[in-house]
Formats: sequence, structure tokens, C-alpha cells
Amino acid sequence: MIKEEIFAINEYVPGKSIEDIARAYGLDPDSIIKLGSNENPLGPSPMAVEALIEHAPKVSIYPSADANELVNALSGYTGFPAGNIAASGPGMDGLIDGLMRLIITRGDEVIIPTPTFSYYEIAARANGAVPVFVKRDEDYAVDVEALLDAVSSRTKVIFLCSPNNPSGNLVPEADVRVIAESTRGLVFVDEAYVEFADKSLAHLVNDYDNIIVGRTFSKAFGLAGLRIGYGIMPQWLKSEYMRAATPFNVSRAAIAAGVAALSDVGHLEKSIELARGGREYLKAHIPFEVYNSQANFVMVNVALLKAKDVCDGLLEKGIIVRDCSSFRDAGESLIRVTVGTRGQNERVVEGFGVV
Ligand SMILES: Cc1ncc(COP(=O)(O)O)c(C=O)c1O
Repeated sequence: MIKEEIFAINEYVPGKSIEDIARAYGLDPDSIIKLGSNENPLGPSPMAVEALIEHAPKVSIYPSADANELVNALSGYTGFPAGNIAASGPGMDGLIDGLMRLIITRGDEVIIPTPTFSYYEIAARANGAVPVFVKRDEDYAVDVEALLDAVSSRTKVIFLCSPNNPSGNLVPEADVRVIAESTRGLVFVDEAYVEFADKSLAHLVNDYDNIIVGRTFSKAFGLAGLRIGYGIMPQWLKSEYMRAATPFNVSRAAIAAGVAALSDVGHLEKSIELARGGREYLKAHIPFEVYNSQANFVMVNVALLKAKDVCDGLLEKGIIVRDCSSFRDAGESLIRVTVGTRGQNERVVEGFGVV
């Protein structure tokens, strides 16, 4: 019954939950800090919570099929016309899957610079594509020359994550331009963490008809549990994308909360400030090599130790961080730490100090 390509998929490894760790280590859930999934330590905007409560009695009614209220609000936030924006659910993952469904014919290739976010590979394989992996260089920059060598007539999508998960670095604009010009396929620029960064690449959508930018409400907007994403794309692609998109894929509650979150500029600014200050603190104080980051997390290299051992040691102290060993080509000594509140950051630094 199951398609052959599904057997090649290694199931997505999510960050560990507070409930799992409380049970496994016999800890009080309130004493555990979760810095493994790049969520917002300030939680959602209170305005988003209010909107959820206000709209709760209306959830017996379907939302708009295309989430146009959210798309219009996103037009104001991004500066792009609504004709360039599609809202997606569940999260940006839903956008990636919808795109694969739209353009992949069995045997097409997608290029993935590794290590990076693992859902690209899952979505590609599940839709019949063959992933072609191009390892990033020792500084975790995309190896543009090797990537261009990997482009073929079967290349349908090239995934570029900026800032990259887990390394935290941006893809230079000049590299994206060269890559977009090298292929008749699409270049998917994942900007899940862009609010925390100095630079966005979204304006390139105006210059190229094969660049699409993925965004999410899961990180800076603190709405990971509502699963809202969106894409900024050329108008021709939005028309085709909407033809095959699942109707009503952003829920009524999610639309209301998303619109409210976009209007709460103060909460967004506070979240960004906390991440920017906190990542500098973590870089300065974690007693291992910590890479520069443009995101709300930092990547730590614990060589000569094993990431798994260090993470297990931190778990015993009720600190959840992300062992990157499950990321393809990440090796066994990288750990990703989400920037938390000041108190959480101090605890994680202390934890690393005694492993
Ligand atoms: C780089 C990157 N892209 C996409 C996503 C998925 O975002 P969403 O929660 O909107 O599905 C994540 C989530 O961790 C991510 O790290």
C-alpha cells in the first residue's frame, strides 16, 4: 500500500517536550526549561490571546478558504501586494509540502545544502523527489560552486535557509542571485528566523520569477502551537499554488490570532531584542565554541565531547537543548540552544559549565 519513496524517509525528530523529560528524569515540570525548539520565551502576544478568546465561539463556522484577512494584514507587514502572498498551514511546513505537491513529478531533483532544517528532505521524498545533498563548508556557508555543479535539468527546487537552522548564518544575497540564475527550477528561501536577522532576501521576489520566500508565525510571533506560515512569491506562482492548496488550511482561530499578532509591534520588538541580546550573552559565556548567529538560537560545538552526552547531562538538570546529531551532515558534536529569558540563559550557561 505504501509508496516506495516513503521507506527512505527518516521520521522527523522533534525537540523534546517538557512532559517527556519530567517523566523520564522524575523532575517537576515547572523546573524544566525548554530551549530545544526555537520557540518564543515571552510566549504569544496578549493581543493574539485576546483574539483567540474572542473568536472561540465562532469556530463552528469554516474560515475563509484562502485566509484573505491574514494575507491582507501580511501585505501591510511585508510591503508586498496580497497577490504575492499565500498564507499556509500547518505552519511553513504546509507551504513546503504544498509547493512540492504542485511541482514535483517522480524522479525530479531538489538540492539541499546540509546541515539544515530536516523537513525539506521529508517533504521532497514524500512527494517523489530525489534529494541531492551538498555539504556546507567548514564555516557552514553554502558551497556555491558545489551547489552549481549539482544543478541539472531535473532540478525543481533549491532550498536555501537564511538564517540557517542549525548554524544561524545568512546566505549572502549575491549567492542567492547566482543560484537563482543557474536554474529553471525554484529557489526556496526559508526565512523562518528573519525577524531576528540584520537582513532579509524577500526583495529578490521582485527581481526573479523563480524565488519564493517562506516565513512563519512560530518564532518571533510566538504562535508555534497555532501552526501558521506564509509564502512571498511571484504572482504567477501564487495563482498556481492556490489551485492545488488545501482549502481552509489556516484555521479561523489562527487567522484571528495572526492578524492580532501582526498589530502588536511592541511584543515583536521585545521578542527580537531579547533574542539579539541573549545570543550575544550565550556566545560570550558558554564555555565551548559558539558560532555567530542571526537567529534566536546559537549553535555550540562541544568537540571533543559528544553532543548526545552533553545534552543528556543538561537534561538531568532539567534543561532541554537540541542535539544536532540527527541533522544530516552535522556530525556528533553540535548542539543548538534557543535563546531564552535572562534567567534561562544563565541556567544554560551554568549547565554547560559543569558538563
Ligand atoms: C528553518 C525552519 N523552517 C521552517 C520551520 C517550520 O516552521 P513552522 O512551524 O511554520 O512549520 C522551522 C521550524 O523549526 C525551521 O526551523
